[in-house]
Amino acid sequence: MEEINEKGKEIKDNENIQEIVEQTIQHLNNPVTVLKPIVKKYLSAVTKVLNEGNKFFFSDGDAKVEIRVVSDEIMRVRLAPHGVFLEEFSYAVKNVDQKVTTFCLEEFEDKYTISTNTITCVVRKQDFHISFVENRSQMVMSQDQAPMHWEENVEFGGYYVYATKTCLPEENFFGLGDKSGNLNLRGRHFQNWNTDAYSFAWDQDPLYRTIPFYTGVHDQSAYGIFFDNTFRSYFDFGKEDVNKTSFWADGGELQYYYIHGPHLMDVVKRYQSLTGTHPMPPKWAIGYHQCRWSYYPESKVKEIAEGFRSRNIPCDAIYLDIDYMDGYRCFTWNKKYFPDPKRMIKELSNIGFKTVVMIDPGIKVDDNYWVFKEGKENNYFCRRSDDYFMEGHVWPGRCQFPDFTNPTVREWWGGLYKELVDIGVAGVWNDMNEPAVFGSGTFPNDVRHNFDGYRGSHRKAHNIYGMQMVRSTYDGLKKLMRNKRPFTITRAGYAGMQRYGCVWTGDNVATWEHLRIGNIQCQRMSVSGVPFCGTDIGGFSGEPDGELFTRWIQMGTFSPFMRAHSAGDTAEREPWSFGEPFTSINRKFIELRYRLMPYIYSVFWEHHRYGFPILRPMVMLEQDKVSNHYREDEFTFGDKIMVCPVLEQGAISRIVYLPKGKWYNFWTQELLEGEKEHHVQASIEIMPLFVRAGSVIPEYPVMQYVGEKNVEEVLLNIYYADYEVNSFFFEDHGDTFAYEQDIYSEKKFRVRGDEKSLLIEQTIDGLYTPNYEWYCYNITGLPFTVKKITVDEQELSEFHMDLQGNLRFKSNKNFADIRISGI
Ligand code: GLC
Repeated sequence: MEEINEKGKEIKDNENIQEIVEQTIQHLNNPVTVLKPIVKKYLSAVTKVLNEGNKFFFSDGDAKVEIRVVSDEIMRVRLAPHGVFLEEFSYAVKNVDQKVTTFCLEEFEDKYTISTNTITCVVRKQDFHISFVENRSQMVMSQDQAPMHWEENVEFGGYYVYATKTCLPEENFFGLGDKSGNLNLRGRHFQNWNTDAYSFAWDQDPLYRTIPFYTGVHDQSAYGIFFDNTFRSYFDFGKEDVNKTSFWADGGELQYYYIHGPHLMDVVKRYQSLTGTHPMPPKWAIGYHQCRWSYYPESKVKEIAEGFRSRNIPCDAIYLDIDYMDGYRCFTWNKKYFPDPKRMIKELSNIGFKTVVMIDPGIKVDDNYWVFKEGKENNYFCRRSDDYFMEGHVWPGRCQFPDFTNPTVREWWGGLYKELVDIGVAGVWNDMNEPAVFGSGTFPNDVRHNFDGYRGSHRKAHNIYGMQMVRSTYDGLKKLMRNKRPFTITRAGYAGMQRYGCVWTGDNVATWEHLRIGNIQCQRMSVSGVPFCGTDIGGFSGEPDGELFTRWIQMGTFSPFMRAHSAGDTAEREPWSFGEPFTSINRKFIELRYRLMPYIYSVFWEHHRYGFPILRPMVMLEQDKVSNHYREDEFTFGDKIMVCPVLEQGAISRIVYLPKGKWYNFWTQELLEGEKEHHVQASIEIMPLFVRAGSVIPEYPVMQYVGEKNVEEVLLNIYYADYEVNSFFFEDHGDTFAYEQDIYSEKKFRVRGDEKSLLIEQTIDGLYTPNYEWYCYNITGLPFTVKKITVDEQELSEFHMDLQGNLRFKSNKNFADIRISGI
């Protein structure tokens, strides 16, 4: 024991020496730097253990560690440097006590173990190293490389907290939300500090959001770590030292969740079970949206709306950026530009447009402005440490800022939307909520926050500010809209933000590199628990040409959030702005989004109900193949449609990799083998798309906006496979929370083919009945000549093969099984 302690001490001293050397060099270069004594303290040998229900407390005599069994696959670790834990509170985690079937503590000569059915947490006695082992394989998934450690913060109190894990040579890392470089995080270092990053670059860090959750994959198995800490945090994936993965923060508690796989999909689903999924969005919110900084005055807004309708390009929403306000005062209107907003919104709604407006956190200091007056009178604005108001310049000039970490302020703010809701505004866009301040970037560290009663400085509240703003917006709208589904969009956020709004990736640039960045960003957000994400289609700043814009529309068709947006100093940026052939191609893809609406909506349901990510990168589809850990172009939307965006200027073809199974080329219907690369057509009218053989893809008729037409029959596109595949089809009212009371229709299709037949089975769950009576079938890829079709054992007399060789027929929507047999 002695010896090992000695060794442990040596490592610590070395680490300190390195930092002291670095400081000394800094000091020599800049003699005014004051040398700070760095005393990192490490956990030493375990001396005691105590058990209270699902919590286990280990101590080294001074520091304490709590290990809590959250579920069979999740455990939480917390560190209290001098034995006193902080009060338990998290903005991210909703469900810390899940179902655990059984767990137990055992003591061995050299270690303690806490086991569930699936995993075992091992606490080594001699040096307090903690590791997690998968029971089935006895494989160590994650283990400490050094004991947890900390450093006192003399200025603010509390500690800088550190965890260092072993990084295996073949281990790769994913997740972490909002990062702009390669999908695989290995070999890189990151920081989380929500930042207004106008025109950000490849690999620029930090950006707008903080999601301190990553997944590791090694030996074909995956696990996740969620470091629930709102302070400025850091992650290093084998950059500083190839053998180490570390995460640390400038304050707060060292508190993390180990989340077991073994599949990446399981890890993400379990992470969502902790932090929640996105509520079902109103259906119109997954249509195409048109935005610009800014459309004004009213005549311009209408010209754009009519431009869509006259050209038959579908669109559901039009956005009003900051110029609709009076001097950028939130919750006011510029009456010169918009003399009668209620009438305008009504007129837009008559032609199927929803109006979404921007609301920023900066409130203009103006005693004649009701929002400022209310905030001031009620003490709702943030203050500095010595009680001065936090003031900074944003769009309206000198501003103060509501403390959204105060529940009373959130309630007030949520109520401010009343007038906007009353005049028909359908959605709210919260921007600049990192929070962004001109000049200084953000608030100074000493600004105080209520933090839901667990008070703290801006160091603690910065990363949570934006999420609490959109939470207050979402909750407020939900009340005001009398339980209709609100639509909110936010720029900043923290883990768990998916419960309150969708997100766009911020101020990108109209370049081919940014198209690629956006593709990776949306996939990364999706596997980091924030699936309803999109980029500014076309790029916010700069000028795309027709080709780039069209490629972006194509990729955007398969972004969960599909919105074109552009800065005010750029040329017009509507789907028709670049002339032919681009207008027609853009129309074709936006129409495709609307045709696929029932599929897309069902994928949202799979996310909401079961925690599946919406976009799934190749590593998630085939994590056992290490080459896929580096593939970042192709992804699936749900698990049936493979999307391969074209990211090269002038491309007319591209190489795509298709995962296991068989895939139909969506455009040619050619059947291709998976687990290999294919060279496919990708001229400007085509973005390569593939459908998994065996899928049922429901399709609606093209509409100019969601709900434009009554759906009289649903087209079921069925792709023959000689194996069994299940598909989902979800429908409901599209704009209420009735789905929480099971008022929905969830259909499951099971498709199974062999050489001479195809069987399609349907089960229906839920209490909602759609209005239409008929399904129309379009069956692709049958390898036999059809002789007979029976629907629930009744022979069907009418069916035919179309020009593409697809089988077409109709049946009642409530069938249980259809058998197609042939010769
Ligand atoms: C920020 C937003 C951008 C918006 C602009 C004006 O830059 O990111 O989307 O258009 O502010 O409100």
